[in-house]
Amino acid sequence: MKFGIIGAGNVGATIAHILLLKNYGDIYLLDIAEDIAKGKAIDLNQSKFLFNSKYEVKGGSDYSEIKDANFIIITAGLARKPGMSRDDLLLKNFEIIKNICLKIKEFNRELFVIVVSNPLDIMAYTAYKILGFSKSKIAGMAGVLDSYRFMHFIQGELKTSTINIEAMILGSHGDTMVPLSSKVKVDKKLLTEILSGDKIKEIEDKTKNGGAEIVSLLKTGSAYYAPAASTVRMIDAIINDENAVLPCSVYAKGEYDIKDIFIGLPVVVNKNGFDKIITMELSEYEKNKLLNSAKSIREQIEKIKDKM
Ligand code: NAI
Ligand code: 2OP
Repeated sequence: MKFGIIGAGNVGATIAHILLLKNYGDIYLLDIAEDIAKGKAIDLNQSKFLFNSKYEVKGGSDYSEIKDANFIIITAGLARKPGMSRDDLLLKNFEIIKNICLKIKEFNRELFVIVVSNPLDIMAYTAYKILGFSKSKIAGMAGVLDSYRFMHFIQGELKTSTINIEAMILGSHGDTMVPLSSKVKVDKKLLTEILSGDKIKEIEDKTKNGGAEIVSLLKTGSAYYAPAASTVRMIDAIINDENAVLPCSVYAKGEYDIKDIFIGLPVVVNKNGFDKIITMELSEYEKNKLLNSAKSIREQIEKIKDKM
């Protein structure tokens, strides 16, 4: 197996490290900052003896090195800098993702593509439109991460060490994300039977603020360990043909009354990729929140649609 990771920054390099640990295959870290990609690849390679890995990590700026990859993970992009609006970031990262996808398109074959770069749902949509691959091959990573964060805050509130928590977040990777709190189970028990509505609302708010909390502490960047772990969770489900239902940003074709955008929905992930969106029974409240989230994504897509 071969993985091309585009963007050898914090998220990209951490994904490479976890993949190496899992012994899945060769890895090429590709970055416009060629030496950084090369340097991190050497460093990663020197760590593999601990993991008994037989695979190799290489780095550079050469797309021909990934033309036979099975997976491409796109983590390239800019972070928002002081004075830069959300729209500035949207337009800058759109150009980056578009140019990367034009290069991948030259491989003339379909492969799995997972997009991590922000604004996530819009960048995943951009990749889908530019690449023209079938929708089962492309997804954005966010729902798994947001759900992990949700689980983390539930665990903290309950002061428990159990990891037997079932929790899912749908919708956009942003302020309009949709925590499915009424369905959360902890050790098979509904969270709504354990905590008050106010406490659950507090946990939902902490989850929405989960990424920003880390940014405000790190000061020079955003989260990367859990984002990388969440990305590898999606890769695991494909490689092991798990039929796992994971919240991923996928192309909606009318499911949940949402059309022609990428948005976080529950999808069966197996060897075919992001195979089938599952229609879950949602309350009126959750359904309205999901439609509102779709509306906010659509508004952002409008800003780049004529530049595709
Ligand atoms: P980083 O700044 O550490 O790394 C980004 C890398 O992209 C840099 O090494 C840069 O040189 C490279 N790059 C920029 N333009 C490029 C191009 N045209 N081709 C190849 N490489 C290019 O950033 P980090 O922390 O790794 O985050 C990466 C992206 O992932 C950001 O957009 C961030 O907002 C997003 N993110 C998304 C998450 C999610 O849940 N979807 C979670 C965490 C991060
Ligand atoms: C996060 O949620 C920045 O999207 C990134 O941590």
